[in-house]
Amino acid sequence: MDCVVLLFYFSFFTFSSSALNLDFWHPHHINNHYSNTIDRHSTGDLPNHSHSFFQDNNFGGPLPKIIGNLSTHLSQLAMAGNLISGKIPTELGNLVNLIFLSMEDNLLTDVIPESFSKFQKMQELFLKINKLSGEIPAAILGNLSQLSLLDLSDNLLVGKIPSTIGNCKMLQGVDFSMNNLSGAIPTELLGLSSLSILLNLSHNSLSGNLPPEVGLLQNIERLDISENHLSGGIPTKIGDCLSLEYLFLEGNSLDGNIPSSLSSLKGLLQLDLSRNNLSGSIPHELQNISALEWFNVSFNNLGGEVPLLGIFQNASRVSLTGNDRLCGGVAKLNLRICPPKDVKKRKHHSHRKLIIIIFSIAFLLLLSFILTVIIYKIMRKRQRKASTDSTIGKLPKVSYQELHHATDGFSVQNLIGTGGVGFVYKGRLNSEERVVAIKVLSLQKKGAHKSFIAECNAFRNIRHRNLVKIITCCSSVDHKGNDFKAIVYEFMTNGSLEEWLHQNAELQRTLTLEERLEIVFGIASALHYLHHDCEKPIVHCDLKPSNVLLDDDMVAHVSDFGIARLVSTIDGNSNNQTSSMGIKGTIGYTPPEYGMDSQLSTEGDMYSFGILLLEMLTGRRPTDEMFKDGYNLHNYVKIAFPNNILEIVDATLLSMENDHVAVTTEVAIHLHPNVERCLSSLLKIGLSCSVESPRERINIKEVITELNIILKALADPRG
Ligand SMILES: *[C@@H]1O[C@H](CO)[C@@H](O)[C@H](O)[C@H]1NC(C)=O
Ligand SMILES: *[C@@H]1O[C@H](CO)[C@@H](O)[C@H](O)[C@H]1NC(C)=O
Ligand SMILES: *[C@@H]1O[C@H](CO)[C@@H](O)[C@H](O)[C@H]1NC(C)=O
Ligand SMILES: *[C@@H]1O[C@H](CO)[C@@H](O)[C@H](O)[C@H]1NC(C)=O
Ligand SMILES: *[C@@H]1O[C@H](CO)[C@@H](O)[C@H](O)[C@H]1NC(C)=O
Ligand SMILES: *[C@@H]1O[C@H](CO)[C@@H](O)[C@H](O)[C@H]1NC(C)=O
Ligand SMILES: *[C@@H]1O[C@H](CO)[C@@H](O)[C@H](O)[C@H]1NC(C)=O
Ligand SMILES: *[C@@H]1O[C@H](CO)[C@@H](O)[C@H](O)[C@H]1NC(C)=O
Ligand SMILES: *[C@@H]1O[C@H](CO)[C@@H](O)[C@H](O)[C@H]1NC(C)=O
Repeated sequence: MDCVVLLFYFSFFTFSSSALNLDFWHPHHINNHYSNTIDRHSTGDLPNHSHSFFQDNNFGGPLPKIIGNLSTHLSQLAMAGNLISGKIPTELGNLVNLIFLSMEDNLLTDVIPESFSKFQKMQELFLKINKLSGEIPAAILGNLSQLSLLDLSDNLLVGKIPSTIGNCKMLQGVDFSMNNLSGAIPTELLGLSSLSILLNLSHNSLSGNLPPEVGLLQNIERLDISENHLSGGIPTKIGDCLSLEYLFLEGNSLDGNIPSSLSSLKGLLQLDLSRNNLSGSIPHELQNISALEWFNVSFNNLGGEVPLLGIFQNASRVSLTGNDRLCGGVAKLNLRICPPKDVKKRKHHSHRKLIIIIFSIAFLLLLSFILTVIIYKIMRKRQRKASTDSTIGKLPKVSYQELHHATDGFSVQNLIGTGGVGFVYKGRLNSEERVVAIKVLSLQKKGAHKSFIAECNAFRNIRHRNLVKIITCCSSVDHKGNDFKAIVYEFMTNGSLEEWLHQNAELQRTLTLEERLEIVFGIASALHYLHHDCEKPIVHCDLKPSNVLLDDDMVAHVSDFGIARLVSTIDGNSNNQTSSMGIKGTIGYTPPEYGMDSQLSTEGDMYSFGILLLEMLTGRRPTDEMFKDGYNLHNYVKIAFPNNILEIVDATLLSMENDHVAVTTEVAIHLHPNVERCLSSLLKIGLSCSVESPRERINIKEVITELNIILKALADPRG
């Protein structure tokens, strides 16, 4: 057989068989592969052929139809140049024995001719970098069953990827990148287990999910579907693509978690998931992909702890920017420190188990003794408290230096909150093993050292189960000679109510109604204590979800109480905490009368409490953008109350309390009557607390009474 290889070379002056090794496939080893194909051709897998080619031919303009009159024995035709324009002549399809056709990097326009479906022997087809438009003809792919490499990248192709591509059972590499293909990725394409070199669908308009069939690509080394409109989650099955070295899914709208199954990809070198909407945490399993040299998840919604090992040891190989809720990781990453709850809990757990197993008998024997000791201690404590109230509770001394040390120099990583009157840092005091929260007051006024300490000391004796404990205070000068005042609180591991209400994507769950009720009860108890059980009533003045912290057991602890008094102390108004100098709370939670220069009052706290309660039930912040021009959270609830409350109650809360699993698309909400009554009563309390006139608001005693009734009703058997 007399076969001819015809090569039109317009841009290269010299030609050798190695010059055929064009940069069809960017990555280096793909080039290697390509040379392999060439080697194969010249070592006799294919019929012997003689070469004839044109070089430096000034062949601009369209390809003549006569191209179709070339010998039908022609097996290879390369026209990789840069000037051929116009339509590809249909007649080219007459060259039915072609196994290799390259027309890349020209100015070809119009559609890919249907006549290409006559290339039933075609193995390698390169049409990249042209201006070809229209759809990829389904008939072509359906008929080119010998095709092994197909590069249509960088054209103007539109429409769907034809599912007939499933007929190309020999395909090893496909590049459709840089077109405007749309629709879903056909599962037939993903079912081609022959695909091994590359599947590049990047820079198109593909939509829909990434089908789990992607797991069938067990031989693929490079998978690039970046810069499309894919949505939904990354299928766990991706972990079956055991040959993957490069996985690029950036620039889509993928959500859900990063599947930990990725860790099965032992050969993975580069992983880019940036610019999606992925949430959850970074799976720690990824740290055992030892080959990984580059990891990019920037600009997602990720949170939680960053692993420390594997690739995560080298900050310059991971990109995590734009995920505000990530914490931990190596220091170079400059992330904030994570709350230490997991480790602590697990430790406790195993510890406790051990004790139960080994020492249970001894424990029982010792029980009576321990009880005696405890009772004795409590009695003594009570006695001391009663007799020497003014002398106990002297502040443990803590210096600026110690706090500076405890917080790594008040580093950004340790910053856990900012508020009206200062910054809150997490730190670990040398003297005390425990982790503490340190509130550094940012105050203009200088001095007032003694009265600050005295007042702080007084607050230290204000103790209640639902108040954050003040451990100590510090009034000093910092290393620049500026006034430095800080309050050291006990640290709450479960963060603030604010996070639980509005960032539950990170926390992975929503507060149940019972939990919310317990928290409300806790806050109310704290307020009751501040308003009625202290020597002189303490107005909190800045009650809001971020000032309600939750401990290990989800018990609410109100923080920042007394800041108003402390600040006015420093301002020289120590005798008059009702002065409206200093703090006035936070927009949305401050009662309307504070805006009219009215004095701080317990009624003002009740307003904030009411708003907080409504926020906990509706899931809406009082500062939600829908509230403006006199329309506020109170009105929003009032309008729906009492007949349409289900329309305003937090949807996530409702779905949790919903009695029936919705089967139809119309979600019918069916609450147990007890639950509905409970919601209604709570909303009523919220409304009564947040009325405009201070005198009409109910006080905390009435709130406690009401809450007790609700708690009892909800605890009634729900059947
Ligand atoms: C290919 O054919 C040419 C003559 O056309 C011959 O000289 C050459 O040896 C052949 N090569 C192989 C590998 O058969
Ligand atoms: C090219 O081939 C077609 C048939 O395929 C024929 O009609 C035509 O005359 C040929 N042209 C030349 C210049 O040989
Ligand atoms: C596709 O291939 C079939 C045989 O497999 C053939 O009959 C048909 O003509 C081809 N289609 C085109 C458009 O050439
Ligand atoms: C791509 O196609 C979509 C329709 O499928 C169209 O809306 C969009 O404008 C196109 N983009 C470009 C760059 O042509
Ligand atoms: C896929 O194609 C794009 C654009 O053509 C290119 O930038 C990218 O490097 C390719 N991906 C891989 C894995 O080769
Ligand atoms: C990570 O991805 C982002 C967004 O896609 C990009 O801006 C950044 O350059 C990438 N990081 C690295 C190190 O390539
Ligand atoms: C990202 O996901 C969150 C929920 O996790 C959703 O509220 C938000 O609309 C999503 N953003 C985009 C751009 O899809
Ligand atoms: C992978 O990491 C996890 C925890 O990160 C570990 O439990 C597991 O043993 C590791 N697997 C391998 C194969 O190293
Ligand atoms: C971290 O990665 C960079 C390349 O990204 C490399 O130059 C450097 O040596 C690595 N550092 C360590 C400690 O492995």
